[in-house]
Amino acid sequence: MGDALLAAATAAREQAYCPYSGFAVGAALEGDDGRVFTGCNVENASYGLGICAERAAVAAAVAAGVRRFRRLVVVAGADPPVSPCGACRQVLAEFGAELVVQGVGPGGTRQWTIRELLPDSFSLTRGA
Ligand code: THU
Repeated sequence: MGDALLAAATAAREQAYCPYSGFAVGAALEGDDGRVFTGCNVENASYGLGICAERAAVAAAVAAGVRRFRRLVVVAGADPPVSPCGACRQVLAEFGAELVVQGVGPGGTRQWTIRELLPDSFSLTRGA
């Protein structure tokens, strides 16, 4: 999967601020216009305030006016690769259950849709 999205997620991971967990994560989200938005995890001394790489990438995209996405790549040092946490699944579901998520680690890649990761998610904007 030697693609630009993976390279962007890997570069974002280099910027992770994770002095408490030591677990660096990078994410890259491709908008439907082809633009790429990245995020890394940003931890805090008040541990619960830390933000995951995935949500940081979503915030960057939305702030740039992009709300429709093609693919999300998440890179971390875990094998098997990480999948987004529950909070991030809900935030990603806001923008489309069909989003393809690829988790990448040293041992390989896993892939899901948000629908698979969070079936029957809470929504006020779909199926109303
Ligand atoms: N983390 C992410 O940024 N994304 C994930 O998919 C899994 C977890 C972060 C949160 C925290 O800063 C660190 O990884 C350890 O949980």
